[in-house]
Amino acid sequence: MKKWFAVIGDPIAQSMSPTMHEAWLQQNEVDASYIPIHVPRGTVEEAVRSLKTLGCSGWNVTVPHKEAIIPYLDEIDPLAEAMQAVNTVVVKEGRLHGYNTDGVGFVASLRETFPEVEADAEILIVGAGGAAKGISYALCRDGFRNMTIANRTYETAEQLSDQLNASAMTLSEAEQQLAQFDIIVQTTSVGMVHSQEGSPLDVSRLKRGTIVADIIYNPLQTELMKQAKALGGKTMNGIGMFVHQGAIAFQHWLDIQPDTEQMTARIRQQLG
Ligand code: ATR
Repeated sequence: MKKWFAVIGDPIAQSMSPTMHEAWLQQNEVDASYIPIHVPRGTVEEAVRSLKTLGCSGWNVTVPHKEAIIPYLDEIDPLAEAMQAVNTVVVKEGRLHGYNTDGVGFVASLRETFPEVEADAEILIVGAGGAAKGISYALCRDGFRNMTIANRTYETAEQLSDQLNASAMTLSEAEQQLAQFDIIVQTTSVGMVHSQEGSPLDVSRLKRGTIVADIIYNPLQTELMKQAKALGGKTMNGIGMFVHQGAIAFQHWLDIQPDTEQMTARIRQQLG
């Protein structure tokens, strides 16, 4: 039977995953397809049953199902288990294996863009939600030791930092002490088109040469990135993270490493 893959979420129409994976399937001459499926909140159990019955070989999971899907999987990778979030399911001999490639995708993109980063870099994570969790766990697993989590709700930053042996700050403390950081990672949705505009953090105290990574890629440049660039910061948007999380999922499914450089350029052009 011809293989097929999917992405489930609500909403799903805006997802760029189908275009990306279809292009990779073609480039690698894999006779398979990848389709978006709208799965409303609260219906993930039925969706999983249907995907299994219909012979889906693997799928991506996006908002709001990343946590809700966990009880319906047979195996869960330790990193995804620790994060309590799955974005990739692989079907192997009828069993469902869950992984999380979001944070690992971020780290791959960071290392590709800034190969000079070192494990003792002082990292500030802005936000403490699902995205921050994935990224901070992946950074930790990759050997980064000095992490501070700053969040609008301080208690949430404290909870996440306790799990990771990191420090916690309020956003205003982080703004005051900004010069101590080498890398700033913006993980909230503030600055995204159709979400709130503006910036969650005032970076006017930024040290020149600091890396400022925003996980947003639409717009290509957020207010935070613009402000950082004007002050001599080195910026990166979220396209690389998106492409790498997809590439790692593709490898899990097919054991093929797809091209990430051309894909990143192609998506940048589409959004630009
Ligand atoms: P995601 O899974 O995309 O990370 P989430 O789990 O809802 O989404 O987390 C959203 C993050 O963005 C949180 O850290 C949130 O801060 P709170 O914990 O205080 O809610 C942060 N966030 C959302 N809107 C914000 C705003 N206007 N200013 C600062 N932080 C904001």
